[in-house]
Amino acid sequence: MFKLIPVNIHSITILLFIVVFSSTALAGNSVKGKQLYQRNCAQCHGENGKPTMPRAADFSKKEGLRVSDKSLMARIKRGGRSCPAVGGMLKDQEIIDLIAHLRTFR
Ligand code: HEC
Repeated sequence: MFKLIPVNIHSITILLFIVVFSSTALAGNSVKGKQLYQRNCAQCHGENGKPTMPRAADFSKKEGLRVSDKSLMARIKRGGRSCPAVGGMLKDQEIIDLIAHLRTFR
């Protein structure tokens, strides 16, 4: 009976570790995202999210960003009329990193 207590605490620790670890693995890395943004998006959307190309979404005004991460991901992969599709070029994790960076603009 007494032996059960430390075993339970131990499994809770493992469970917590798994939860914390898996959530950090899924979260976007905005530092990597910034590099990807500068390489692939800044020429039109601007270094600080203020577009340099007419009609490109203004991220400093949250244009095109008022949607869930999931729809943003789909939109970035698919591209738009003048916005290039990057689905075949970037990995899902890279797009998640990009989104984390897009969320930092204000
Ligand atoms: C060649 C210029 C260009 C590049 C490069 C570019 N975009 Fe765009 N983007 C646009 C334009 C123009 C629009 C406005 C809608 C359209 O014409 O597709 C837009 C719109 C968007 C929108 C808003 C979509 C909406 O539903 O309103 C998002 C999000 C976006 N771009 C993300 C990105 C990301 C992320 C990258 C880099 C991987 C990128 N764009 C690279 C030109 C560009």
